[in-house]
Amino acid sequence: MIKQSENADITSLTTFGITAGCGSLFEYDTDSDLAALHSQGVFRRPYITLGGGSNLLFVNGFYPGAVITSRNDSVTWRGLDTDFPLMECGAALQLDRACSLAAEAGLWGLENLSGIPGSVGGAAVQNAGAYGAEFADAAVTLKVFDTRTGQTAEMPAANCGYGYRTSIFKAPENSGRYIITAVTFRLSRPCRANLSYRGLTEALGYDEITAEAASALTPRQIRTAVLAVRDRKLPDPSKAGSAGSFFKNPVVSADEYQQIICLSGMEPSGHRLPDGSIKLSAAWLIDKAGCKTLTCGGAALWPSQPLVLVNASGATGADVATLAAEVSARVRQRFGVTLTPEVIYIR
Ligand code: EPU
Repeated sequence: MIKQSENADITSLTTFGITAGCGSLFEYDTDSDLAALHSQGVFRRPYITLGGGSNLLFVNGFYPGAVITSRNDSVTWRGLDTDFPLMECGAALQLDRACSLAAEAGLWGLENLSGIPGSVGGAAVQNAGAYGAEFADAAVTLKVFDTRTGQTAEMPAANCGYGYRTSIFKAPENSGRYIITAVTFRLSRPCRANLSYRGLTEALGYDEITAEAASALTPRQIRTAVLAVRDRKLPDPSKAGSAGSFFKNPVVSADEYQQIICLSGMEPSGHRLPDGSIKLSAAWLIDKAGCKTLTCGGAALWPSQPLVLVNASGATGADVATLAAEVSARVRQRFGVTLTPEVIYIR
């Protein structure tokens, strides 16, 4: 069924908690609902798709077009009696709910993604990730509605061009074209503990962990450790609205890295990628560019993780956008590095 509301308040549909509205809001349940909207011509006028609203900034507080959002938070299990069960989740299911269900069932694959705000559909667009894991590591197939043709198709996750916070769904030529309506994750009963993120081992109570101790861990223990690390570093979404990391960690070549050292006289924190390039810590750059205490209206940086811009008190979309621009400008001036927002600006 489709629920249509005009001049709708969508503040509660985004994680920033910034007052936002839209021309029309369409909440749908099934792929046939989307086909009906297609027949009505909804996709021929300006529209955006909203998942968990965890990666969007409504810069002007009002989007005049249509906002399309799923209400399908169903979960269907297949092959639960096998070693690699499949969990199909509706796009509206909170990603953390999927993580919790998998961990509680003793199944590996989503535990490191625990606590990431937003929906399964939103995670599929930007390949949400944290603590050494990404959405794409566990996803096997996506159900995708094509707003050009009005048809739904199954797409293997391997064909979705997943990379660091990116996918074919973010490519400019596909902008708005596809709506992800469901995702199937392949989980594992045999142990798949991923402790690649330094800090997780520590949160589990070990200085060093032996292979034997790691193989005795449960997905629930890792989930608990991940939630504890997040709790220490990131704002509690119920207290300060945010969109998680506001910027991506910039990737530079080895030559560019040397230039940054010459320009700044500092050696930026980062890590080398397999191709020899270096992924810099945006949090470090922001901190060392002296931005941590910057504010604009009600917008501020989160003290223990300055990569996260927060709605500290009654911020507007413009406050956040102005603050982000100021942070970018200072980082560019200090290090010659351009920060790219991970957050999508809606105007
Ligand atoms: N740091 C400072 N000053 C500070 C705080 C941190 O310099 O005041 C530096 C330190 O160098 C530290 C680093 O920042 O090493 C912190 O890095 P952390 O491991 O916390 O994560 P990140 O690289 O900043 C990424 C993701 C997060 C994800 C974490 C953990 C991006 C853009 N962000 O952040 O994702 O949770 O790793 O895996 O890749 C998100 O995308 O919304 C998000 C929160």
